[in-house]
Amino acid sequence: MILVLDFGSQYNQLITRRIREFGVYSELHSHRLTAEDIRRMNPKGIILSGGPNSVYEENSFRCDPEIFDLDIPVLGICYGMQLMTHHFGGNVQRADEREYGKANIHVQESPRLFGGLPKEQVVWMSHSDKVIEAPQGFAVDAVNESCPVAAMSHQEKSLYGVQFHPEVRHSEYGNDLLKQFVFQICESKAEWTMENLVELEVEKIREQVGDQKVLCALSGGVDSSVVAALIHKAIGDQLTCIFVDHGLLRKNEADSVMETFGGDFNMNVIKVDAQERFMSKLHGVSDPEEKRKIIGNEFIYVFDDEADKLKDIDFLAQGTLYTDIIESGTETAQTIKSHHNVGGLPENMQFKLIEPLNTLFKDEVRALGTELGVPDEIVWRQPFPGPGLAIRVLGEITEEKLEIVRESDAVLRDEIKKAGLDRDVWQYFTVLPDFRSVGVMGDARTYDYTVGIRAVTSVDGMTSDWARIPFDILEKISNRIVNEVQHVNRIVYDVTSKPPSTIEWE
Ligand code: XMP
Repeated sequence: MILVLDFGSQYNQLITRRIREFGVYSELHSHRLTAEDIRRMNPKGIILSGGPNSVYEENSFRCDPEIFDLDIPVLGICYGMQLMTHHFGGNVQRADEREYGKANIHVQESPRLFGGLPKEQVVWMSHSDKVIEAPQGFAVDAVNESCPVAAMSHQEKSLYGVQFHPEVRHSEYGNDLLKQFVFQICESKAEWTMENLVELEVEKIREQVGDQKVLCALSGGVDSSVVAALIHKAIGDQLTCIFVDHGLLRKNEADSVMETFGGDFNMNVIKVDAQERFMSKLHGVSDPEEKRKIIGNEFIYVFDDEADKLKDIDFLAQGTLYTDIIESGTETAQTIKSHHNVGGLPENMQFKLIEPLNTLFKDEVRALGTELGVPDEIVWRQPFPGPGLAIRVLGEITEEKLEIVRESDAVLRDEIKKAGLDRDVWQYFTVLPDFRSVGVMGDARTYDYTVGIRAVTSVDGMTSDWARIPFDILEKISNRIVNEVQHVNRIVYDVTSKPPSTIEWE
Protein backbone atom coordinates (compact mmCIF):
# COMPACT_ATOMS: atom_id res chain seq x y z
CA MET A 1 0.00 0.00 0.00
CA ILE A 2 1.15 3.52 -0.76
CA LEU A 3 -0.03 6.04 1.80
CA VAL A 4 -0.83 9.57 0.63
CA LEU A 5 -0.93 12.20 3.37
CA ASP A 6 -3.33 15.01 2.62
CA PHE A 7 -2.19 18.60 3.05
CA GLY A 8 -5.18 20.06 1.24
CA SER A 9 -4.14 20.15 -2.43
CA GLN A 10 -6.96 20.13 -4.94
CA TYR A 11 -5.11 17.24 -6.60
CA ASN A 12 -4.84 15.05 -3.50
CA GLN A 13 -7.36 12.41 -4.62
CA LEU A 14 -5.70 12.29 -8.00
CA ILE A 15 -2.44 10.95 -6.56
CA THR A 16 -4.27 8.04 -4.94
CA ARG A 17 -6.16 7.34 -8.14
CA ARG A 18 -3.06 7.36 -10.33
CA ILE A 19 -1.34 4.82 -8.09
CA ARG A 20 -4.39 2.57 -8.07
CA GLU A 21 -4.42 2.79 -11.86
CA PHE A 22 -0.94 1.22 -11.75
CA GLY A 23 -2.48 -1.74 -9.90
CA VAL A 24 -1.11 -0.75 -6.50
CA TYR A 25 -3.45 -0.08 -3.61
CA SER A 26 -3.26 3.43 -2.19
CA GLU A 27 -5.12 5.35 0.51
CA LEU A 28 -5.44 9.04 1.25
CA HIS A 29 -5.30 9.98 4.93
CA SER A 30 -5.13 13.03 7.11
CA HIS A 31 -1.69 14.59 7.62
CA ARG A 32 -2.41 14.18 11.34
CA LEU A 33 -1.56 10.47 11.31
CA THR A 34 1.29 9.83 13.73
CA ALA A 35 4.43 7.94 12.81
CA GLU A 36 3.16 5.16 15.04
CA ASP A 37 -0.18 5.01 13.15
CA ILE A 38 1.76 4.78 9.92
CA ARG A 39 4.10 2.09 11.21
CA ARG A 40 1.05 0.00 12.03
CA MET A 41 -0.40 0.52 8.55
CA ASN A 42 2.90 -0.70 7.15
CA PRO A 43 2.88 1.15 3.81
CA LYS A 44 5.59 0.55 1.22
CA GLY A 45 5.87 4.28 0.59
CA ILE A 46 4.52 7.65 1.74
CA ILE A 47 3.58 10.58 -0.45
CA LEU A 48 3.11 14.03 1.07
CA SER A 49 0.59 15.89 -1.06
CA GLY A 50 0.64 19.54 -2.04
CA GLY A 51 -1.43 22.08 -0.18
CA PRO A 52 -2.42 25.72 0.00
CA ASN A 53 -0.34 26.59 3.10
CA SER A 54 3.08 28.14 3.49
CA VAL A 55 5.48 26.33 5.84
CA TYR A 56 6.03 29.71 7.51
CA GLU A 57 2.40 30.18 8.49
CA GLU A 58 1.75 29.58 12.15
CA ASN A 59 -1.15 27.19 11.69
CA SER A 60 0.01 25.51 8.53
CA PHE A 61 -0.56 21.77 8.21
CA ARG A 62 2.35 19.73 9.53
CA CYS A 63 3.11 16.05 9.76
CA ASP A 64 4.68 14.05 12.54
CA PRO A 65 8.42 14.68 11.88
CA GLU A 66 9.20 11.12 12.94
CA ILE A 67 7.73 9.82 9.71
CA PHE A 68 11.09 10.72 8.10
CA ASP A 69 12.79 8.19 10.41
CA LEU A 70 10.48 5.26 9.66
CA ASP A 71 12.76 3.83 7.01
CA ILE A 72 9.92 4.08 4.50
CA PRO A 73 10.55 5.98 1.23
CA VAL A 74 8.89 9.41 1.18
CA LEU A 75 7.99 11.54 -1.84
CA GLY A 76 7.03 15.15 -1.13
CA ILE A 77 5.00 16.89 -3.82
CA CYS A 78 4.99 20.72 -3.86
CA TYR A 79 4.05 21.68 -0.29
CA GLY A 80 5.16 18.18 0.72
CA MET A 81 8.65 18.93 -0.60
CA GLN A 82 8.70 22.34 1.10
CA LEU A 83 7.74 20.71 4.38
CA MET A 84 10.58 18.21 3.98
CA THR A 85 13.00 21.04 3.15
CA HIS A 86 11.90 23.07 6.16
CA HIS A 87 12.22 20.07 8.45
CA PHE A 88 15.77 19.25 7.32
CA GLY A 89 16.99 22.85 7.48
CA GLY A 90 16.88 23.84 3.79
CA ASN A 91 15.60 27.15 2.57
CA VAL A 92 12.03 27.76 1.42
CA GLN A 93 11.34 31.20 0.04
CA ARG A 94 8.03 32.89 0.61
CA ALA A 95 6.41 34.16 -2.54
CA ASP A 96 3.63 36.67 -3.08
CA GLU A 97 2.84 35.44 -6.54
CA ARG A 98 1.76 32.06 -7.65
CA GLU A 99 3.49 30.14 -10.45
CA TYR A 100 0.71 28.32 -12.20
CA GLY A 101 0.73 26.29 -15.39
CA LYS A 102 3.17 24.48 -17.62
CA ALA A 103 6.89 24.88 -17.08
CA ASN A 104 10.08 23.33 -18.44
CA ILE A 105 12.48 21.60 -16.11
CA HIS A 106 15.99 20.41 -16.69
CA VAL A 107 16.89 17.10 -15.05
CA GLN A 108 20.43 16.74 -13.66
CA GLU A 109 22.68 13.68 -14.06
CA SER A 110 20.54 10.48 -13.72
CA PRO A 111 18.72 10.92 -10.41
CA ARG A 112 16.94 7.77 -9.21
CA LEU A 113 13.42 9.21 -9.17
CA PHE A 114 13.66 10.16 -12.82
CA GLY A 115 14.97 6.77 -13.96
CA GLY A 116 15.92 7.03 -17.60
CA LEU A 117 13.45 9.86 -18.34
CA PRO A 118 14.41 12.69 -20.72
CA LYS A 119 16.48 15.57 -19.39
CA GLU A 120 14.07 18.23 -20.67
CA GLN A 121 10.48 17.85 -19.55
CA VAL A 122 7.27 19.82 -19.41
CA VAL A 123 5.70 19.74 -15.94
CA TRP A 124 2.69 21.28 -14.23
CA MET A 125 3.46 23.85 -11.55
CA SER A 126 1.03 25.27 -9.04
CA HIS A 127 2.80 26.90 -6.11
CA SER A 128 3.55 30.13 -4.30
CA ASP A 129 6.51 29.30 -2.05
CA LYS A 130 9.50 27.50 -3.48
CA VAL A 131 12.64 25.74 -2.31
CA ILE A 132 15.69 27.82 -3.10
CA GLU A 133 18.24 25.72 -1.25
CA ALA A 134 18.01 21.98 -0.66
CA PRO A 135 18.82 20.75 2.87
CA GLN A 136 22.25 19.39 3.63
CA GLY A 137 22.76 15.88 2.28
CA PHE A 138 20.13 16.34 -0.43
CA ALA A 139 21.04 16.42 -4.12
CA VAL A 140 19.34 18.80 -6.52
CA ASP A 141 17.75 16.53 -9.14
CA ALA A 142 16.10 19.10 -11.41
CA VAL A 143 16.00 22.86 -11.91
CA ASN A 144 13.90 25.29 -13.83
CA GLU A 145 13.88 28.98 -14.61
CA SER A 146 12.04 30.02 -11.52
CA CYS A 147 12.96 27.16 -9.15
CA PRO A 148 16.60 26.46 -8.39
CA VAL A 149 15.38 23.23 -6.78
CA ALA A 150 12.59 21.75 -8.91
CA ALA A 151 13.35 18.26 -7.56
CA MET A 152 15.67 16.90 -4.87
CA SER A 153 16.57 13.65 -3.15
CA HIS A 154 18.46 12.05 -0.30
CA GLN A 155 19.32 8.57 -1.56
CA GLU A 156 20.40 6.95 1.72
CA LYS A 157 17.30 8.14 3.57
CA SER A 158 15.15 7.44 0.50
CA LEU A 159 13.56 10.88 0.63
CA TYR A 160 12.43 12.59 -2.58
CA GLY A 161 10.79 15.89 -3.42
CA VAL A 162 9.35 17.54 -6.52
CA GLN A 163 8.10 21.10 -6.78
CA PHE A 164 5.73 20.24 -9.63
CA HIS A 165 2.66 17.99 -9.75
CA PRO A 166 3.43 14.63 -11.40
CA GLU A 167 -0.16 13.47 -10.75
CA VAL A 168 -1.56 16.06 -13.19
CA ARG A 169 -1.79 14.89 -16.81
CA HIS A 170 -0.07 18.04 -18.09
CA SER A 171 3.16 16.82 -16.48
CA GLU A 172 4.56 15.02 -19.51
CA TYR A 173 6.34 12.21 -17.64
CA GLY A 174 4.42 12.52 -14.39
CA ASN A 175 3.05 9.00 -14.50
CA ASP A 176 6.49 7.56 -15.25
CA LEU A 177 7.93 9.43 -12.31
CA LEU A 178 5.22 8.16 -9.95
CA LYS A 179 5.76 4.65 -11.29
CA GLN A 180 9.48 4.98 -10.67
CA PHE A 181 8.72 5.89 -7.03
CA VAL A 182 6.08 3.22 -6.53
CA PHE A 183 7.79 0.29 -8.28
CA GLN A 184 11.54 0.96 -8.24
CA ILE A 185 11.95 2.90 -5.03
CA CYS A 186 9.13 1.45 -2.89
CA GLU A 187 9.35 -1.96 -4.59
CA SER A 188 5.57 -2.34 -4.78
CA LYS A 189 4.03 -4.95 -7.05
CA ALA A 190 1.04 -4.42 -9.34
CA GLU A 191 -1.23 -6.90 -7.58
CA TRP A 192 -4.30 -4.81 -6.96
CA THR A 193 -6.60 -6.08 -9.71
CA MET A 194 -10.39 -6.28 -9.72
CA GLU A 195 -10.16 -10.05 -9.61
CA ASN A 196 -8.03 -9.98 -6.48
CA LEU A 197 -10.22 -7.26 -5.04
CA VAL A 198 -13.34 -9.41 -5.33
CA GLU A 199 -11.57 -12.26 -3.55
CA LEU A 200 -10.27 -9.97 -0.85
CA GLU A 201 -13.62 -8.25 -0.25
CA VAL A 202 -15.56 -11.51 -0.25
CA GLU A 203 -13.17 -12.84 2.39
CA LYS A 204 -13.56 -9.68 4.49
CA ILE A 205 -17.35 -9.77 4.31
CA ARG A 206 -17.46 -13.43 5.33
CA GLU A 207 -15.24 -12.68 8.27
CA GLN A 208 -17.27 -9.65 9.34
CA VAL A 209 -20.70 -11.22 8.94
CA GLY A 210 -20.08 -14.83 9.99
CA ASP A 211 -23.43 -16.59 10.01
CA GLN A 212 -25.41 -13.40 10.69
CA LYS A 213 -27.84 -11.70 8.33
CA VAL A 214 -27.54 -8.60 6.16
CA LEU A 215 -30.21 -6.27 4.83
CA CYS A 216 -29.64 -4.07 1.77
CA ALA A 217 -31.82 -1.34 0.29
CA LEU A 218 -31.55 -1.94 -3.42
CA SER A 219 -32.37 1.06 -5.58
CA GLY A 220 -31.14 -0.23 -8.93
CA GLY A 221 -28.43 2.46 -8.93
CA VAL A 222 -24.78 1.56 -9.45
CA ASP A 223 -23.64 1.65 -5.83
CA SER A 224 -26.43 -0.31 -4.18
CA SER A 225 -26.42 -2.84 -7.03
CA VAL A 226 -22.69 -3.52 -6.73
CA VAL A 227 -22.93 -3.73 -2.94
CA ALA A 228 -25.73 -6.28 -3.24
CA ALA A 229 -23.88 -8.34 -5.88
CA LEU A 230 -20.69 -8.37 -3.82
CA ILE A 231 -22.33 -9.31 -0.54
CA HIS A 232 -24.43 -11.92 -2.28
CA LYS A 233 -21.29 -13.51 -3.70
CA ALA A 234 -19.86 -13.64 -0.19
CA ILE A 235 -22.82 -14.86 1.85
CA GLY A 236 -25.57 -15.87 -0.58
CA ASP A 237 -28.94 -16.23 1.12
CA GLN A 238 -27.85 -14.54 4.33
CA LEU A 239 -28.49 -11.35 2.34
CA THR A 240 -31.97 -9.92 1.86
CA CYS A 241 -32.61 -6.91 -0.37
CA ILE A 242 -35.56 -4.57 -0.21
CA PHE A 243 -36.50 -2.82 -3.41
CA VAL A 244 -39.11 -0.11 -3.00
CA ASP A 245 -41.03 0.69 -6.17
CA HIS A 246 -42.46 4.12 -5.40
CA GLY A 247 -43.97 4.44 -8.86
CA LEU A 248 -41.58 7.27 -9.72
CA LEU A 249 -39.05 5.15 -11.58
CA ARG A 250 -38.25 5.26 -15.28
CA LYS A 251 -39.90 3.04 -17.86
CA ASN A 252 -39.24 -0.70 -17.26
CA GLU A 253 -36.84 0.09 -14.44
CA ALA A 254 -38.58 -1.90 -11.71
CA ASP A 255 -38.91 -4.97 -13.93
CA SER A 256 -35.31 -4.81 -15.02
CA VAL A 257 -34.04 -4.57 -11.41
CA MET A 258 -36.18 -7.56 -10.41
CA GLU A 259 -35.12 -9.58 -13.46
CA THR A 260 -31.46 -8.91 -12.82
CA PHE A 261 -31.28 -9.44 -9.08
CA GLY A 262 -34.25 -11.65 -8.32
CA GLY A 263 -33.76 -13.59 -11.56
CA ASP A 264 -30.20 -13.72 -12.94
CA PHE A 265 -28.52 -13.35 -9.57
CA ASN A 266 -31.18 -15.34 -7.75
CA MET A 267 -31.05 -13.09 -4.70
CA ASN A 268 -33.64 -12.74 -1.97
CA VAL A 269 -35.23 -9.52 -3.15
CA ILE A 270 -38.42 -8.25 -1.58
CA LYS A 271 -40.18 -5.92 -3.99
CA VAL A 272 -42.47 -3.49 -2.26
CA ASP A 273 -45.18 -2.09 -4.51
CA ALA A 274 -45.72 1.21 -2.82
CA GLN A 275 -46.96 3.29 -5.76
CA GLU A 276 -50.34 4.03 -4.21
CA ARG A 277 -48.85 4.89 -0.87
CA PHE A 278 -46.58 7.48 -2.48
CA MET A 279 -49.17 8.88 -4.88
CA SER A 280 -51.73 9.42 -2.17
CA LYS A 281 -49.18 11.28 -0.03
CA LEU A 282 -48.19 13.43 -3.02
CA HIS A 283 -51.75 14.23 -4.04
CA GLY A 284 -52.26 18.00 -4.38
CA VAL A 285 -48.65 18.84 -3.47
CA SER A 286 -46.81 21.14 -5.88
CA ASP A 287 -43.93 22.58 -3.86
CA PRO A 288 -40.63 20.91 -4.87
CA GLU A 289 -39.14 20.82 -1.39
CA GLU A 290 -42.31 19.41 0.07
CA LYS A 291 -42.41 16.71 -2.60
CA ARG A 292 -38.83 15.71 -1.76
CA LYS A 293 -39.57 15.63 1.96
CA ILE A 294 -42.67 13.51 1.54
CA ILE A 295 -40.85 11.00 -0.66
CA GLY A 296 -37.81 10.82 1.61
CA ASN A 297 -39.94 10.22 4.70
CA GLU A 298 -42.27 7.77 3.02
CA PHE A 299 -39.30 5.77 1.79
CA ILE A 300 -38.14 5.42 5.37
CA TYR A 301 -41.60 4.36 6.61
CA VAL A 302 -41.94 1.75 3.87
CA PHE A 303 -38.44 0.42 4.44
CA ASP A 304 -39.03 0.36 8.19
CA ASP A 305 -42.30 -1.56 7.82
CA GLU A 306 -40.63 -4.19 5.66
CA ALA A 307 -37.52 -4.47 7.81
CA ASP A 308 -39.75 -4.96 10.87
CA LYS A 309 -41.25 -8.04 9.26
CA LEU A 310 -37.84 -9.65 8.89
CA LYS A 311 -36.31 -11.49 11.79
CA ASP A 312 -32.76 -11.43 13.13
CA ILE A 313 -31.18 -8.90 10.79
CA ASP A 314 -27.80 -7.83 12.13
CA PHE A 315 -26.23 -5.68 9.42
CA LEU A 316 -27.39 -2.96 7.11
CA ALA A 317 -25.40 -2.70 3.86
CA GLN A 318 -24.67 0.76 2.48
CA GLY A 319 -23.10 1.90 -0.77
CA THR A 320 -20.88 4.52 0.82
CA LEU A 321 -17.98 5.38 -1.51
CA TYR A 322 -14.41 6.38 -0.77
CA THR A 323 -15.14 9.93 -1.91
CA ASP A 324 -17.86 10.22 0.77
CA ILE A 325 -15.32 9.20 3.37
CA ILE A 326 -12.43 11.37 2.29
CA GLU A 327 -14.58 14.39 1.59
CA SER A 328 -15.78 14.47 5.15
CA GLY A 329 -12.83 12.82 6.82
CA THR A 330 -9.47 14.34 5.99
CA GLU A 331 -10.07 17.79 7.50
CA THR A 332 -8.49 19.69 4.63
CA ALA A 333 -11.18 19.11 2.01
CA GLN A 334 -12.62 22.28 0.57
CA THR A 335 -15.92 20.83 -0.64
CA ILE A 336 -17.89 18.81 1.82
CA LYS A 337 -20.83 17.06 0.26
CA SER A 338 -23.61 15.46 2.14
CA HIS A 339 -23.89 11.69 1.88
CA HIS A 340 -26.35 10.56 -0.74
CA ASN A 341 -27.02 7.17 0.69
CA VAL A 342 -29.86 4.87 -0.22
CA GLY A 343 -32.68 7.36 0.20
CA GLY A 344 -31.80 8.35 3.77
CA LEU A 345 -32.33 5.29 5.93
CA PRO A 346 -33.94 5.33 9.36
CA GLU A 347 -31.66 6.74 12.03
CA ASN A 348 -33.03 4.65 14.86
CA MET A 349 -32.37 1.30 13.21
CA GLN A 350 -30.33 -0.93 15.44
CA PHE A 351 -28.14 -2.44 12.77
CA LYS A 352 -24.42 -2.64 12.44
CA LEU A 353 -23.26 -1.05 9.19
CA ILE A 354 -21.44 -2.86 6.45
CA GLU A 355 -19.92 -0.63 3.77
CA PRO A 356 -17.79 -2.74 1.43
CA LEU A 357 -17.29 0.02 -1.18
CA ASN A 358 -15.89 2.56 1.22
CA THR A 359 -12.35 2.26 -0.13
CA LEU A 360 -13.35 2.63 -3.78
CA PHE A 361 -13.83 5.46 -6.25
CA LYS A 362 -16.86 5.47 -8.54
CA ASP A 363 -15.05 4.14 -11.61
CA GLU A 364 -13.57 1.35 -9.51
CA VAL A 365 -17.06 0.46 -8.29
CA ARG A 366 -18.09 0.18 -11.94
CA ALA A 367 -15.14 -2.08 -12.74
CA LEU A 368 -15.95 -4.19 -9.69
CA GLY A 369 -19.59 -4.45 -10.82
CA THR A 370 -18.48 -5.68 -14.24
CA GLU A 371 -16.16 -8.21 -12.61
CA LEU A 372 -19.13 -9.46 -10.58
CA GLY A 373 -21.27 -9.82 -13.69
CA VAL A 374 -23.61 -6.87 -13.07
CA PRO A 375 -24.99 -5.89 -16.51
CA ASP A 376 -23.77 -2.77 -18.33
CA GLU A 377 -27.18 -1.04 -18.12
CA ILE A 378 -26.76 -0.92 -14.37
CA VAL A 379 -23.00 -0.49 -14.12
CA TRP A 380 -23.09 2.46 -16.53
CA ARG A 381 -26.39 3.85 -15.35
CA GLN A 382 -26.52 7.61 -15.22
CA PRO A 383 -27.25 9.25 -11.85
CA PHE A 384 -30.92 9.17 -10.94
CA PRO A 385 -32.31 11.20 -8.05
CA GLY A 386 -33.92 9.46 -5.08
CA PRO A 387 -37.25 11.32 -5.57
CA GLY A 388 -37.24 10.03 -9.14
CA LEU A 389 -39.65 11.38 -11.73
CA ALA A 390 -41.53 13.32 -9.05
CA ILE A 391 -39.07 16.20 -9.44
CA ARG A 392 -39.25 15.99 -13.24
CA VAL A 393 -42.99 16.58 -13.32
CA LEU A 394 -43.01 20.22 -12.28
CA GLY A 395 -45.73 21.16 -9.86
CA GLU A 396 -48.46 18.75 -8.94
CA ILE A 397 -47.98 15.13 -9.99
CA THR A 398 -50.65 13.19 -11.83
CA GLU A 399 -50.52 9.74 -13.41
CA GLU A 400 -51.00 11.32 -16.85
CA LYS A 401 -48.03 13.64 -16.37
CA LEU A 402 -45.85 10.86 -14.99
CA GLU A 403 -46.65 8.83 -18.08
CA ILE A 404 -45.56 11.68 -20.38
CA VAL A 405 -42.21 12.02 -18.60
CA ARG A 406 -41.69 8.27 -18.49
CA GLU A 407 -42.44 7.79 -22.21
CA SER A 408 -40.53 10.83 -23.45
CA ASP A 409 -37.56 9.86 -21.27
CA ALA A 410 -37.59 6.37 -22.79
CA VAL A 411 -37.44 7.87 -26.31
CA LEU A 412 -34.59 10.17 -25.31
CA ARG A 413 -32.60 7.33 -23.75
CA ASP A 414 -33.16 5.15 -26.78
CA GLU A 415 -31.91 7.78 -29.23
CA ILE A 416 -28.93 8.79 -27.09
CA LYS A 417 -27.92 5.16 -26.91
CA LYS A 418 -28.39 4.63 -30.65
CA ALA A 419 -26.21 7.67 -31.30
CA GLY A 420 -23.50 6.13 -29.11
CA LEU A 421 -23.54 9.10 -26.74
CA ASP A 422 -24.69 7.29 -23.61
CA ARG A 423 -21.24 7.27 -21.98
CA ASP A 424 -20.30 10.78 -23.09
CA VAL A 425 -23.34 12.63 -21.82
CA TRP A 426 -23.20 12.51 -18.03
CA GLN A 427 -26.93 12.75 -17.41
CA TYR A 428 -29.92 13.14 -19.72
CA PHE A 429 -33.63 13.14 -19.08
CA THR A 430 -36.87 14.88 -19.92
CA VAL A 431 -38.95 17.20 -17.75
CA LEU A 432 -42.54 18.27 -17.95
CA PRO A 433 -43.20 21.94 -17.15
CA ASP A 434 -46.54 22.85 -15.69
CA PHE A 435 -48.00 24.66 -18.71
CA ARG A 436 -49.51 24.04 -22.13
CA SER A 437 -49.20 25.87 -25.42
CA VAL A 438 -50.85 25.98 -28.82
CA GLY A 439 -49.79 23.80 -31.72
CA VAL A 440 -51.17 22.32 -34.92
CA MET A 441 -51.32 18.66 -35.74
CA GLY A 442 -52.88 17.42 -38.98
CA ASP A 443 -55.30 20.26 -39.61
CA ALA A 444 -56.33 20.65 -36.05
CA ARG A 445 -55.30 23.07 -33.35
CA THR A 446 -53.80 21.43 -30.26
CA TYR A 447 -53.35 22.77 -26.77
CA ASP A 448 -50.84 20.45 -25.17
CA TYR A 449 -47.76 20.04 -23.02
CA THR A 450 -44.16 21.06 -23.67
CA VAL A 451 -41.41 18.56 -22.90
CA GLY A 452 -38.00 19.87 -21.91
CA ILE A 453 -34.84 17.92 -22.70
CA ARG A 454 -31.99 18.25 -20.24
CA ALA A 455 -28.60 16.74 -21.12
CA VAL A 456 -25.41 17.69 -19.33
CA THR A 457 -21.72 16.96 -19.13
CA SER A 458 -20.21 16.93 -15.67
CA VAL A 459 -17.66 15.21 -13.47
CA ASP A 460 -19.48 15.04 -10.17
CA GLY A 461 -22.77 16.88 -10.64
CA MET A 462 -21.55 19.86 -8.61
CA THR A 463 -21.11 21.90 -11.79
CA SER A 464 -22.19 21.03 -15.30
CA ASP A 465 -22.44 22.27 -18.84
CA TRP A 466 -25.21 21.54 -21.33
CA ALA A 467 -24.26 18.77 -23.72
CA ARG A 468 -23.68 19.75 -27.35
CA ILE A 469 -25.89 17.03 -28.80
CA PRO A 470 -25.83 17.25 -32.63
CA PHE A 471 -28.91 18.95 -34.10
CA ASP A 472 -29.87 15.96 -36.25
CA ILE A 473 -30.08 13.76 -33.16
CA LEU A 474 -32.13 16.39 -31.32
CA GLU A 475 -34.38 16.54 -34.37
CA LYS A 476 -34.98 12.78 -34.26
CA ILE A 477 -35.71 12.89 -30.54
CA SER A 478 -38.10 15.80 -30.97
CA ASN A 479 -39.97 14.13 -33.84
CA ARG A 480 -40.30 10.87 -32.03
CA ILE A 481 -41.56 12.41 -28.77
CA VAL A 482 -44.31 14.51 -30.40
CA ASN A 483 -45.37 11.55 -32.51
CA GLU A 484 -45.15 8.81 -29.92
CA VAL A 485 -46.12 10.50 -26.68
CA GLN A 486 -49.68 11.67 -26.29
CA HIS A 487 -50.47 15.26 -25.26
CA VAL A 488 -47.10 16.71 -26.27
CA ASN A 489 -46.85 19.30 -29.05
CA ARG A 490 -43.60 21.13 -28.29
CA ILE A 491 -40.01 20.23 -27.37
CA VAL A 492 -37.40 22.59 -25.92
CA TYR A 493 -33.70 21.99 -25.22
CA ASP A 494 -32.22 23.39 -22.01
CA VAL A 495 -29.03 25.34 -22.81
CA THR A 496 -28.01 26.49 -19.34
CA SER A 497 -25.00 25.43 -17.35
CA LYS A 498 -24.86 24.86 -13.59
CA PRO A 499 -24.43 27.39 -12.09
CA PRO A 500 -26.57 29.44 -12.53
CA SER A 501 -29.06 26.63 -13.19
CA THR A 502 -29.24 23.27 -11.47
CA ILE A 503 -29.26 19.99 -13.36
CA GLU A 504 -32.77 19.00 -12.28
CA TRP A 505 -35.54 21.54 -12.80
CA GLU A 506 -36.94 21.12 -9.30
P1 XMP B 1 -28.94 19.42 -9.12
O1 XMP B 1 -30.32 19.46 -9.63
O2 XMP B 1 -28.84 19.79 -7.67
O3 XMP B 1 -28.48 17.90 -9.21
O4 XMP B 1 -27.98 20.20 -9.96
C1 XMP B 1 -27.17 17.43 -9.08
C2 XMP B 1 -27.18 15.92 -9.17
O5 XMP B 1 -27.85 15.36 -8.03
C3 XMP B 1 -28.99 14.62 -8.44
N1 XMP B 1 -30.06 14.90 -7.47
C4 XMP B 1 -30.41 14.08 -6.45
N2 XMP B 1 -29.94 12.86 -6.11
N3 XMP B 1 -31.50 12.79 -4.32
C5 XMP B 1 -30.51 12.21 -5.04
O6 XMP B 1 -30.11 11.09 -4.72
C6 XMP B 1 -32.02 14.00 -4.61
O7 XMP B 1 -32.91 14.49 -3.94
C7 XMP B 1 -31.43 14.68 -5.74
N4 XMP B 1 -31.67 15.88 -6.33
C8 XMP B 1 -30.82 15.98 -7.39
C9 XMP B 1 -29.32 15.09 -9.84
O8 XMP B 1 -30.02 14.10 -10.59
C10 XMP B 1 -27.95 15.40 -10.38
O9 XMP B 1 -27.31 14.22 -10.83
